[in-house]
Amino acid sequence: MKKITVVGAGNVGATTAQLIAEKNLADVVLIDIAEGIPQGKALDMLEACPLWQSDSSVTGTNDYADTAGSDIVVITAGLARKPGMSRDDLLMANAKIVKAVAESIAATSPDAIIIVVSNPMDAMAHVAKIASGFPSKRVIGMGGVLDSSRMRTFIALEAKAHPKDVKAMVLGGHGDLMVPMASLTTVGDKCIADVLPADKVEQIIERTKTGGAEIVSHLKTGSAYYAPAASTVEMIENILGRKSEILPCSVHLNGEYGISGVYVGVPVKLGASGLEEIIVHKLSDSEQQALNKSAEAVEGLIKKIQN
Ligand code: LAC
Repeated sequence: MKKITVVGAGNVGATTAQLIAEKNLADVVLIDIAEGIPQGKALDMLEACPLWQSDSSVTGTNDYADTAGSDIVVITAGLARKPGMSRDDLLMANAKIVKAVAESIAATSPDAIIIVVSNPMDAMAHVAKIASGFPSKRVIGMGGVLDSSRMRTFIALEAKAHPKDVKAMVLGGHGDLMVPMASLTTVGDKCIADVLPADKVEQIIERTKTGGAEIVSHLKTGSAYYAPAASTVEMIENILGRKSEILPCSVHLNGEYGISGVYVGVPVKLGASGLEEIIVHKLSDSEQQALNKSAEAVEGLIKKIQN
């Protein structure tokens, strides 16, 4: 059985651990600095495993020694948004937390693939790559899968389609400048422009961009976690070879899409070695400009951390 560590036993971390155990994907270690929380949540999940017909071992800890030798580590640690905050407002506090976490992971699980969920995610992926010293193909950010799932949801509701028949791809950073790609959006075998009027598509794109904030405005005390956890597990299932899909993930670009040295969301194939392939689509001029702008925003955040 593979070993997956989830760092952060808050809502995103615990729900991710739950899905891994429920789907019997791997043994799970839930780690947090709060004493008792990861232990209690992990034991609670372990006690559900007979009902899930799962033999995943689920343990909680405050000690990185217990995470040693993990195949995959998911970083969810850090502060979440409150109403009125953008993901970028979390920058400095979470950069410090993610740096410390990535250093501990590198020391205890030197061969792991890291999935970064903490916000602002693309910048945090950069921090995790530098702090771990891992090759960039083993440090990948989760954002595009979530944003695309939100877009698929809104399209399915509007088009009265089954969500599984809706395909969508949101590229760029997981922030206010994300790039929902109408040109890659389909319902069944039809492109979106043939299914919904342009103004509806525009509304859906806007709602997708503010999808995270919409949840925060309801919850008031935190941000989304069911769809973020499901999106993270989608990436895990691809890494483990249970699925083979093209997923939008934040990866360190090296000239692809004309962008270098920055984490930004693009379509990729994941697998046993982490990032296996970046899929390069031909973009329209306006899509390319939007992607460039989104990448520049991520670069701006990295500069702020470095100063
Ligand atoms: C969201 C946060 C998790 O989009 O970034 O809900």
